[in-house]
Parts: sequence; C-alpha cells; structure tokens
Amino acid sequence: TAAEKGGYAHFMLKEIHEQPDALANAIRGRLDFNLGTSVLSGMGTSPRELAEISRIVLVGCGTSLHAGLVGEYAFEDLANIPAEVQQAAEFRYRNPIVSRNDLVVAISQSGETADTLAAVREAIQKGAFVMSLCNVVGSTIARETSRGVYLHAGPEISVASTKAFTCQVAILLMMALKLGRGRRFSREEGMQLAKAIESIPDLVARTVRQSDHIAEIAARYAKNEHAFFIGRGPMYPVALEGALKLKEISYIHAEGYHAAELKHGPIALLEKDTPVVALACDIPGKDKTLGNVEECRARGARILGIITEGDHEAAAVMDDVIEIPRTHPLVATIPAAVALQLFAYHVANARGCEIDQPRNLAKSVTVE
Ligand code: G6P
Repeated sequence: TAAEKGGYAHFMLKEIHEQPDALANAIRGRLDFNLGTSVLSGMGTSPRELAEISRIVLVGCGTSLHAGLVGEYAFEDLANIPAEVQQAAEFRYRNPIVSRNDLVVAISQSGETADTLAAVREAIQKGAFVMSLCNVVGSTIARETSRGVYLHAGPEISVASTKAFTCQVAILLMMALKLGRGRRFSREEGMQLAKAIESIPDLVARTVRQSDHIAEIAARYAKNEHAFFIGRGPMYPVALEGALKLKEISYIHAEGYHAAELKHGPIALLEKDTPVVALACDIPGKDKTLGNVEECRARGARILGIITEGDHEAAAVMDDVIEIPRTHPLVATIPAAVALQLFAYHVANARGCEIDQPRNLAKSVTVE
C-alpha cells in the first residue's frame, strides 16, 4: 500500500532513500576509534584465531555475489589475505578445496537462498571456519553458521536489492579493517579507514539527494535496448551490479565488463548512441578507464560517467555525469553503487516498468 511505501512510488525508491539510515545502523557501535579497528562481536573470534586465517572464500548469489567481489578487493588490499569469490552453486558442486584456516563468508540478504545454504553446509562439512552476512535475523543461513554479522538494514521488500548490497559492502570493509589491523595495518591507518567508513551514511545521503538530476539523465537513456557498464579494480564489481540492476527492473539488455575487456569483444557491439556507463571515479586506474571511454566515444557511444565531484578531467570526456563525493577508493564503491541504483530506477520508471515485482524474478530463490 501507499502507506507502507512511506510516500514513495515504489519500495525500491524507498529503500534507496533509506540507505543513509540503514548504513548508519549497520555501522553503529562497530567502529573502535581508540584502537583504529572495528568491533564485530558476531564474528566470535579472538585476535589469535583471526591471525590464523590464511585465505578467505566469499560465496553468494546475485547482488550478494557482487558485494562479495568488492569484499575480495578489500580483504586483499587491506588485510593482505588471499581472497576469492565463488558463486554459491559452483562452490557446492565443485568439491571445493577448503581447509581449517580458510574463512568462508556466506553472503545472503534473505539467509534462505538454496545454493548459498548448500555452500554453507559444504564448507562446514569440510572443516572451514564459516561465517554469514545476513539481513534477516534468525534466517536459516544465520542459524546454521554459528558466527556471523547481521546487516541491520531493515526489511528489504523490493525484489531488486539495494540497501542490503551497500550494507553488505560496508560490513565487508569493517571485516577487512579488523583483519588488517591484526596484520600489517597500523593504528593510524586503521583510524583513517574507520573514519572513512563512518562517513558512508553522509556520502550516500549526498548521492541520494541527486535523485532528480539522475532522473533527468535517465530519461535520455530510457529508449535504448542495450547498455554496457565498465569499471576497474573495486569499481569492476560495481559495474556488474549496475548492469544487473538495470536489466532486472528495466529489461534493457545490460552487460557489465571489466574496462580492459572491452577490446576483447564488447566493443564490436558499440554503435552510434549505444550507452556506456563508465565507473571513472578518481581512484587508481582512472586514467586507463578514461582511455577506454575515449575508445567508446570514437565508436559514437553515449557515455555516462560516474565520477568524483569536481573532476573536470573526467567530466570533459563524458556526455553525462553523476558525481560522487571524494573518499577512500574502496568506500567509493558504495556511493557509486547508489548512483547506479537511482539510474536503473529512473530508467525503469521512465519505461513504465513494474519495478518492485519484475517479471520472472523472486526476492529469494529457495529452490535450485
Ligand atoms: C534473488 C534476488 C536478488 C538477490 C539474490 C540473492 O535473485 O532477486 O536480489 O541478490 O536472490 O539473494 P540473497 O537473499 O541470498 O542475498
């Protein structure tokens, strides 16, 4: 009903706007500014046990899988721990190699996704250290993993996941901070990252405030039937997630690619006015991405850049831009993802799509 949607036209738009609060709830009480680390009591581990973790495997499906991909960068960059992501169905059926010093993190908004649950059971069977990142309290995955961290994002109704994704990423960053502090990270470095994490609700509030501006841009892309999303480093998974959001709710054929993969195939599909959404925030790799943007422009593509505010160099090569605040490169994935959620929402709205209940999709896939 309209009341449940709190005055918003759709649950998805409501949940996008709830993100500053959802993220504040996910972060509250979980940062320690004295020690420059995070407090995640649900991880239930002593510093000694954390020190023994030698590898991290993140498992999940859909949007949760994309959050895991951002987590992979965070664990490797911040904590210096080899990390990899496996689609949950792949993990459960491939007879995965895991051992007792491996941490398997199952990521699931609902805590009920069949493949993710089966991956959890497989990892427990193999003696790994298993932890979950769920939103729904008391869900099956949360119950079966004795350790875990809840998102506290509040109920997510829209089939297309928004606030769960950003809260998952925020918690993965806090996990990486904690593991990093147990390794090479100094207190000072820990403090800086903790401060950046603390600012996430504000960064997201500033992005959400651009909703009307993003709607104007989206109107110019609503008639296209194809779109490409490109990014590098931690913005690569954001490109995948941006493409997933757009295809889920607008039915536009959207593909996310690593920017360096463009030349290996997708560039063949670019024609005049084919939309390319470039994640070109001012983080390492930006120059290379701007180079890829030039290659797309040369084929007549129409470029929407997600850039750092005030970056005139990046703005100059784009047809349209959405600016996000300057912050730590890993933290920047969160406002960048929010910008793409709003873009997908407004494109779908301009096309008159259902949005909250897209055809053929379910909020939670509890059968294989
Ligand atoms: C379904 C939903 C997606 C979600 C995925 C994983 O496909 O439509 O939005 O990302 O399941 O769900 P989970 O609850 O495990 O995060």
